[in-house]
Amino acid sequence: MCGIVGYLGNKEAYPILIKGLHRLEYRGYDSAGVALVNADNSLKVYKAKGKVADLENYAQDKDCSGTIGIAHTRWATHGEPNDINAHPHYSQSATLALIHNGIIENYAVIKEDLKKRGFSFQSDTDTEVLVQLIEYIKTTNKLSLEKAVQLALKQAIGAYAIAVIEKGNPNQIIAARKSSPLVIGVGDDEFFLASDATPIIEYTNKVIYLDDEEVAIIRRGEELSIKTISDVEVTHEVKELEMSLSELEKGGFEHFMLKEIYEQPKRLKEALRGRINIDETEVNLAGIREHKDKFINAKRILIVACGTSWHAGLIGEYLIEEFARIPVEVEYASEFRYRNPIINKDDIVIAISQSGETADTLAAIELAKEAGAFVYGICNVVGASIPRNTDSGSYTHVGPEIGVASTKAFTAQVTVLSLIALTIGKLKGELTDENYLKLVKELASIPNKMERTLKTNQQILNFAPIFTYARNFIYLGRGYNFPVALEGALKLKEISYIHAEGYPAAEMKHGPIALIDAEMPVVVIAPNKGMYEKTISNIQEVKARKGRVISIITEGDETMKELSDFSIEIPETEECFVPLLASIPLQLMAYHIAVVKGCNVDQPRNLAKSVTVE
Ligand code: G6P
Repeated sequence: MCGIVGYLGNKEAYPILIKGLHRLEYRGYDSAGVALVNADNSLKVYKAKGKVADLENYAQDKDCSGTIGIAHTRWATHGEPNDINAHPHYSQSATLALIHNGIIENYAVIKEDLKKRGFSFQSDTDTEVLVQLIEYIKTTNKLSLEKAVQLALKQAIGAYAIAVIEKGNPNQIIAARKSSPLVIGVGDDEFFLASDATPIIEYTNKVIYLDDEEVAIIRRGEELSIKTISDVEVTHEVKELEMSLSELEKGGFEHFMLKEIYEQPKRLKEALRGRINIDETEVNLAGIREHKDKFINAKRILIVACGTSWHAGLIGEYLIEEFARIPVEVEYASEFRYRNPIINKDDIVIAISQSGETADTLAAIELAKEAGAFVYGICNVVGASIPRNTDSGSYTHVGPEIGVASTKAFTAQVTVLSLIALTIGKLKGELTDENYLKLVKELASIPNKMERTLKTNQQILNFAPIFTYARNFIYLGRGYNFPVALEGALKLKEISYIHAEGYPAAEMKHGPIALIDAEMPVVVIAPNKGMYEKTISNIQEVKARKGRVISIITEGDETMKELSDFSIEIPETEECFVPLLASIPLQLMAYHIAVVKGCNVDQPRNLAKSVTVE
């Protein structure tokens, strides 16, 4: 949510900043801006409502010289998306420019106070309040920018990742973070600053992750200096990034989302390598085995997550309860953190997050840690805040996910949860050898079966235009496929703006059935496993009311095919692994319907990929 980029070095800053903004545009895309200390030492701010391309158009005839700058792509919180509310924000005297990701919760009190002291405000943002406060502290106390930032941040309540530059000083960027991510790239005589590593990897693979309430003093020709807001010096290990640049490109696909859907077989095969042995007889998840006593003795597992990751958590509940026989509760992190939950010392909390930066999930982790629970993270972004704040965990290892609608990260989360369930189940002796071996072998075969599932793309492409008329969709599934129905509905909502709801199939008769008529498409996940006959009855109930049935069925199931208006066949697999295959046609269906409707698939309206505000 909101993307930050900064550069200080010997190259022209503007092209680096713009390229960086494009890489971070998935974090927010309602407006963008850049601040530069020009070659003549003046401080210029250019900003524009809309995409980064709109900023480029606006700035094309302006002076964009200079080897130092900061830039921002916004996801609006305070104040509508327009040119004025876009970042960077000038201070009153236009000698400072600041960009910010996060929310300053006590901005209103500070603003009132500053107004009384003669400050005036151009925008509706909380960010402008912060830059004014820094200027006020700096000028009244005759302090350096570094000290003024430290003191201002001591007054700020909330979350921030910020960067500030100063007129007349082409040699310094001051940056800081609390509860919002910030990475510093260290090159040869140059520094980069970004919300995540994607804008940096092109130039250097050496990065430093700032921790909460730390301020980075980035100066030309000097070593990077990091201090807390209370002025205590800190040192951080320089980490090496493993990401490659090609992972950040569309690779010939029209959209990142389609690329990421297609990557699933290959990425999951890689993610499983080393976690399933070569004979396909054993799973090994280091994070679990290293803490095996905790998992064997756990009285309860609590899963906390948001959005798509929460749906993966629901599938995790079915998997862990079935194979490891440990009671599991799945909670929205945002509810968990504020409802005074009961957390025991022998509970294990599993936090699931693609980005590893979701504010509510991070807060839920803190709460669990304070209560003494063991916290395990499942995360995709290496080095993000969640893996740095958990006791142990597993990366999903499917590479950067850029499309705002999560696809490959979801199936990877479900895969890791499958590995967790099988590992604990084996350690606890809950699984018979025969069952364990069968499941391990089947899990190893999933990437190939995903490859076959992707062949349904043409069929889905063909029928998708028929459904662009629809204003509502219902998705139904039972057991393991109930969360798949929720996730399928979410995908369609997110990118095509068609209202969709997921339900357990049996719940349909308790309300949603009232909506069914000839206009209502009903997607049913109906494999030949689990409650097959009961699902057939649910489909009959839809047909009796003239609903149009799109079913996801097991290859060769003629009965379901005849009952459905459209059916998409997926390979046969164990019931617990059906979600890994059934999700793919649902992703493709949402994608093609959205494309036919002319929607911006990779950057759907109002959404952001990484939600760093609560
Ligand atoms: C946002 C994204 C969703 C994502 C959710 C949780 O809403 O648009 O795709 O599922 O955040 O994100 P996380 O990174 O914690 O999985």
